[in-house]
Amino acid sequence: MDAKVSKKELNWSELGFQYVKTDFRFSAIHRDGEWGEGALVSDDHIAVHEGAPALHYAQQCFEGMKAQTAEDGRILLFRPDLNSQRMNDAATRLLMPEVPRELFMRGVEEAVRANYAWIPPYGSGASLYIRPMLIGVGENLGLKPARQFEFRVFVSPVGPYYKEAGLAVISLAVSGMDRAAPKGTGSFKVGANYAGGLLATRKAQELGANEALYLDSAEGRFIDEAGSANIIIVMKDGTLVTPASRAILPSITRRSIMEIARTELGMKTEERPIELRTEIDQFEEMGACGTAAVLSPVGRIYFDDEWHVIHKDGKTVGPVMQKVYDSLVELQKGDREDRFGWLHEVEI
Ligand code: PLP
Ligand code: COI
Repeated sequence: MDAKVSKKELNWSELGFQYVKTDFRFSAIHRDGEWGEGALVSDDHIAVHEGAPALHYAQQCFEGMKAQTAEDGRILLFRPDLNSQRMNDAATRLLMPEVPRELFMRGVEEAVRANYAWIPPYGSGASLYIRPMLIGVGENLGLKPARQFEFRVFVSPVGPYYKEAGLAVISLAVSGMDRAAPKGTGSFKVGANYAGGLLATRKAQELGANEALYLDSAEGRFIDEAGSANIIIVMKDGTLVTPASRAILPSITRRSIMEIARTELGMKTEERPIELRTEIDQFEEMGACGTAAVLSPVGRIYFDDEWHVIHKDGKTVGPVMQKVYDSLVELQKGDREDRFGWLHEVEI
């Protein structure tokens, strides 16, 4: 493809986190125990049988990734091998066929390349969100795995997940509802985890928060995660802590942040259970992190009928969150040397 194809006329810096229809998506079908080659298609609709297990029994999983434009024009993915692995972990859990690494990467790269005109330019603050998905399709009625599957990758240019641009301070409200059972599917990126969270998010927003914060569902004491992001906390002694829990999504952003903090920012890091009510006095700064959320400082949390301010006035970005955010985003955009080998360039 001609890399000089002109960009779409979009107001890139005004983009929010909404679906924007792009020109192509990648689709591959698994039938009779084998994956087809897959190809780019232009139809943004999927025709599936009315009995498809994805529709009735939520036999589906998905991923979330971003492509960024570097200053020199390279198109960069961040640790896509981990998304491929995580999709296959979910596939195995839900009795779906694994998507071979080669097919996953080809689908992602082809969808990105074919939609080059939609990739936000360097410096716009926007990026190309990539949504790989695996769904159980084909005729079915009883509770059993599908016999056909579709692996699809669509992309959409996006701006910040939470309304304000850049490093927005958000607030969370502890949910009275559980996200995932201790031995359930919480650690897999499966749609079923999210449907149950829609009402919790609505209730959190009615309280004036951006998102729900979930505590562990066995005892309601320990922090699990937010509706669409993992949690990191800077304690008053300077340690960066993050919840150890079997019920949360293993966030690629969190894993990267913890490694950057430890190896580049010289911070002490810990992954351990964090008890909200007894430890909150020791919280200095808090953040919600993920592909969509990037790193959003959390200023306030609502629980036990009141707001609890975490940092300063609850609206100010703390110095550690600022530093971690800058380190992460500069790395993802190719602004500094990738000494971890985390960036993957898509040849245009
Ligand atoms: N937790 C949940 C529930 C999510 O949906 C996401 C988003 O993917 C994350 C955490 C962050 O994961 P990652 O950093 O891999 O995007
Ligand atoms: C992501 O961060 O990629 C996600 O999938 C979160 C989603 C709820 C938008």
